[in-house]
Amino acid sequence: MYAWDPLLHFVSAVVGQPVYRSADPLRAMTVHVHYGGDEQDRHFDVSEYTIVLHLLAPEEGGVLEYVPRSRSSVEQDEEALRGIVEGKHQQLTRALPTVPGTLVLHSGHSSLHRVTPVHGTTPRISATLSYNSAPDGRLNEYTRQLYFGRKR
Ligand SMILES: [Fe+2]
Repeated sequence: MYAWDPLLHFVSAVVGQPVYRSADPLRAMTVHVHYGGDEQDRHFDVSEYTIVLHLLAPEEGGVLEYVPRSRSSVEQDEEALRGIVEGKHQQLTRALPTVPGTLVLHSGHSSLHRVTPVHGTTPRISATLSYNSAPDGRLNEYTRQLYFGRKR
């Protein structure tokens, strides 16, 4: 699916600019499995655009929460970031439930986001596909070690 050109063209059409698949050998396409108690803390993606394809939903939780186009505001305003983390700005937060078969295209690079804690015995499983506006997008070795436990 990641190598399928029509999907690449679809992403380009939606975001309104040419995009390229990640050239990173580990991050380009990943599968995330979140078991009960797992979550993904708030972060910005390294890649500009990410497709999340939901494959399996947990009994509860595992919601993709995001604050649209928040990067510039939280980078310039530590108080705003603290408010989001402490839940004081719920009106800014959007939530997408995990529904198997749903394809989500988002700009994780510009929107702070997280996966809420998963509950139950069924894991949350999703595939993520990374895209950038420039070719040869790769993680640096530090980030690759942090995410994947190895540099190459
Ligand atoms: Fe992310």
